[in-house]
Parts: sequence; structure tokens; C-alpha cells
Amino acid sequence: MKPPMVSVDDYAVEAHKILPHSILGYYKSGALQEITLHENKEAINRWYIRPRFLRDVSKRSLATTILGHNVDVPYGVAPTAMQKMAHPDGENANARAAGKIGTAFTLSTIATTSIEEIAKSAPDTLRLFQLYIYKDREVTANLVQRAEANGFAALILTVDAPYFGIRREDIKNKFTLPPYFRLANFQTDDEKSTLANISSGGSNINEYVKALFDPSLSWEDITWLTRITKLPIVLKGILTAEDAILGLEAGATAIWVSNHGARQVDGVPPSIEALPEVVKAVNGRCEVYVDGGFSQGTDIFKALALGAQMVFLGRPLLWGLACGGEEGAYDILDILQTELDSVMALSGCATVKDITRDMVIRKEKYARL
Ligand code: LAC
Repeated sequence: MKPPMVSVDDYAVEAHKILPHSILGYYKSGALQEITLHENKEAINRWYIRPRFLRDVSKRSLATTILGHNVDVPYGVAPTAMQKMAHPDGENANARAAGKIGTAFTLSTIATTSIEEIAKSAPDTLRLFQLYIYKDREVTANLVQRAEANGFAALILTVDAPYFGIRREDIKNKFTLPPYFRLANFQTDDEKSTLANISSGGSNINEYVKALFDPSLSWEDITWLTRITKLPIVLKGILTAEDAILGLEAGATAIWVSNHGARQVDGVPPSIEALPEVVKAVNGRCEVYVDGGFSQGTDIFKALALGAQMVFLGRPLLWGLACGGEEGAYDILDILQTELDSVMALSGCATVKDITRDMVIRKEKYARL
């Protein structure tokens, strides 16, 4: 019997016991020494919450909006690849869980479930599509058209992955997608649908990316993308004020601060530290989202105080999926709802709008007071 599961961490511990070694390695790894992987979490703990009292918190709402769409909670499901490795119901389960809690689900380009299937299995979920740009631009244009045709609300363009980072675990494990799964956004006989044909002797996912993704991408390609779609384009992976500004100039609708789960460059700032710089740079001209190491309600609260419109979570949902499919994924989102509601109530915030910048302070500031 499973022990009582009352936190994301409980799910993480269980999932680590359940998942096969090489799949767990792929999901949990960061790049190189994983300094940034740890710092994503440590940095969140460097912020303190300054609660305010006697503010009538008897009626509360966690609702907010993303790109004009109403959501019931200010956090959503980040894209993570190949979710059927975690549970046979994979992305379908995750998308339905997101819909049930009333938030957005982001489908990865390299998912084990197709755009069309997700539209069918989670018709009422706010669906976002994460886009990788393939060297063959027709492949990309086709993905974009299908996302549009299937009612996805935005394209989340990952900008930080001309190649994948060096993940030592994947090299050691010779990570590959088990052959009975397919990258379902491509036809089964298409080379893009499998990692099996690639015999790298190392990480097959890295070889796949090297062979097929376009590392020549530049800001002009964002303009190209804006021309082939009516969907809003969100740039995911931005870590600097400079790139946030260039992104807006190139036609992006929103900016998603992320270090790709610390899987690309080891040594970049933790997401929560990059967030204020980007929020300041865009200066209210667009929404800013963030992901990276968030695993409890207080973490989400801090990011909202620092100016994020939405917080996204990736790995926690994989742990939920691994432990219990849709129910496990839903439980993760539900735990976060309870925790965020609790910290809001106990800090004097009846609504998300009440979570203002002055409600968080860096630990170091206390030493100077
Ligand atoms: C990764 C990609 C799929 O980090 O986002 O492995």
C-alpha cells in the first residue's frame, strides 16, 4: 500500500520507486552537474513571504486569466515530452486533469499523444501547443496548422533548444523512447516519430534533436511564425531582459521565463531569479509566465508576487502520472490548489490580484535591516 500522499514531494518519492531507471533518469535530469537544477528550488527558498493580516479573507478566489482565457487557478501544466513513459494514459490523462481543475495544459511537440487525440480527449481543457521548429519548415507549418485546427489557444515556442543540453544520466543509460511508443504528432512510418533508428551509443533524444531541429533559428524566424499563424506566440525559455524585449519586437504575445527544467545550460540563473528582470523589462506590455522548480503553494505565491501571471509545473505532473494516471495528476493540481489557497488566506490575500510585489522579500535584505 502507498503511504498517504499529501505533497508533491510525496509523489516524487513514490514515482522514483515506480519508474524504470532510464525513464526516471530522463525525466529528473538536469544538464551537467545539475547545479541549476538544485538552484531552481534553493532560490525559491531565498524569498520570504511578508504576510498581512486583518484583511477579510473569508471569501477567496484563485481565478485569473491567461491570454484572455479564464482559468480557475494561476498555475498550469508545462510541456514535458513523452508522457506515456510515465503512465499508459500519458498526455490524455494530464490534459484531462488540467481541465478538471480548470487550468491550461501544454502539449509537447514530442508527445506520445497527438494534437488531434488531445483535442478529442480533453475538449474542454484550455490547450496550448509547445512548438519545436524542425529543419523542414513544412513539418513545422503542418504542426502549427493542426494546432490551430484543433482548437489550441496558443503556440509556446521553445527558444532555448537549438540542441539539447548534456544530460549525463541519459548518456550513461543510452536513453531512448521504448520502441512500442511513438512520437504521435508524426506518422508512424515517419523517421520523426521514433528514436529507435538512431544508434548514438549515448542519448538518442539528443541525436534526434541534432538531426531534425533547426539550430539556425533567429529572431527573423519568429516573424516568419507570426506570418503563418493567427495564434498568439509565447516565447518559452527567456532568461534575460534583452531577449524579452527582442521577443516583443519580433511579435511575441507573451514571455515564458524558464531554464527548461535546468536541462540546457548548467549555470544559468534559477527561474525565479530571472523573473523580476524580465517583468521589469516588459513593463506591463505583455504577460509573463514562469516555470522551474515550483512544487508547493508557497512557491507559486512567490512567483505571482514577483509578477508572473501564471506559474507552470512540469515534473510534478509526471510524478502524479506515474503514481496514478489522471487521478495522480489531478491530485497534484489539487494539492497545489489547497496549498496556494492556504498561503493566500494566511497572508491576507483574498484574490490573486492581492498578491503584490511587497509581499515577498529576499532573505539577504533582513541581514541589512
Ligand atoms: C527535454 C525536452 C523534450 O528537455 O524538452 O528533454
